[in-house]
Amino acid sequence: MLKFGLIGCGRISKNHFEALHKNPDAKIVACCDIIENRAQEAAAKYDIPFWTTKYEEMLQIEDIDIISICTPSGLHPEHGIMAARHGKHVLSEKPMGVRLKDADDLIKTCDQTGVRLFVVMQNRLNPSIRLIKKAIDEGRFGKIYMIEANVFWTRPQDYYDMAPWRGTWEFDGGAFCNQASHYIDLVQWFGGPVEGVMAYTDTLARHIEAEDSGIAILKFRRGGMASINVTMLTYPKNLEGSITILGEYGTVKVGGIAVNQILHWDFAKYHDDDRLVAESATNPDSVYGFGHTAYYRSVIDSLKNGDNPLLDGRGGRKSLELIEAIYKSNRERKMAVLPLQI
Ligand SMILES: NC(=O)c1ccc[n+]([C@@H]2O[C@H](COP(=O)([O-])OP(=O)(O)OC[C@H]3O[C@@H](n4cnc5c(N)ncnc54)[C@H](O)[C@@H]3O)[C@@H](O)[C@H]2O)c1
Repeated sequence: MLKFGLIGCGRISKNHFEALHKNPDAKIVACCDIIENRAQEAAAKYDIPFWTTKYEEMLQIEDIDIISICTPSGLHPEHGIMAARHGKHVLSEKPMGVRLKDADDLIKTCDQTGVRLFVVMQNRLNPSIRLIKKAIDEGRFGKIYMIEANVFWTRPQDYYDMAPWRGTWEFDGGAFCNQASHYIDLVQWFGGPVEGVMAYTDTLARHIEAEDSGIAILKFRRGGMASINVTMLTYPKNLEGSITILGEYGTVKVGGIAVNQILHWDFAKYHDDDRLVAESATNPDSVYGFGHTAYYRSVIDSLKNGDNPLLDGRGGRKSLELIEAIYKSNRERKMAVLPLQI
């Protein structure tokens, strides 16, 4: 039985608590939030024996094996480093930070203290996404010529006004770093490594520091290119969150509310997986999808059996590096070449 502590009892924490509740190999023994009633209410709702507003207090609990970090993104490295220094494994919500340098400090501290680091990218576990990744790994596409990701969502001003950290450079970043980060992760996972990025971002309508819209063009090291088109200004509601892969021998498009449904699947040669396409669709009620349950299962298996985790710190770093390259290209008005020099 692995014992979890969770910091940050806000919106996404519900997915964590529920995933942990469903897992017979996990128990959540403590939770923490600087807003007292959030920690208290979570403890009451999920039957958690200890709650606190002071993170240090939670870290003193010896039998906690792993800390789940659900605080604002800019705080993930600091909270992860504190957990690692207390000998706890670290599971960070995405993105693992908002600056690559801080993410590197977290990875280094986890290495030095001998704890494991996991980054939540739950969409990788969607059955539709797994089918696509398998087709890529088996070479069914032949050469991948182009990948296009569209994230045409709606986030009104009151979404950003819900919490002071949203849309700030220090704690959140903009549409690329927050809302589109799953799509960025999937594009680089499907087609990477990325050689270079040209990007243009802007804050067209929302009163926030970071961008509400942007376009990034990627060149892959093995050939081929991608574009990632993102806006939080779609009228009047979310229109599309999709990824299209155009290869030599195959064309696939995945969409739905949380890249949970294959919309187009066409390959030159038949494969038994073709029969799994229709049943791979899931029906989540939000863009967060269902993946946290499967994600926790993979983390727990990895800790118990030493299996390779689906996404460790170095895997999570790749999409953060791409996000940082997007911002760099926009700032400098030229191609940002990877790997970035930190
Ligand atoms: N995987 C996903 O699909 C997904 C979806 C939504 C959010 N997220 C990520 O989860 C994180 C949190 O997002 P959210 O929407 O739940 O935000 P939120 O504002 O609803 O929750 C954050 C919580 O952290 C608490 N907090 C802040 N500083 C703290 C501190 N020093 N100590 C203890 N608690 C502190 C806040 O009081 C708040 O309750 C972000 O990094 C976001 O990118 C991931």
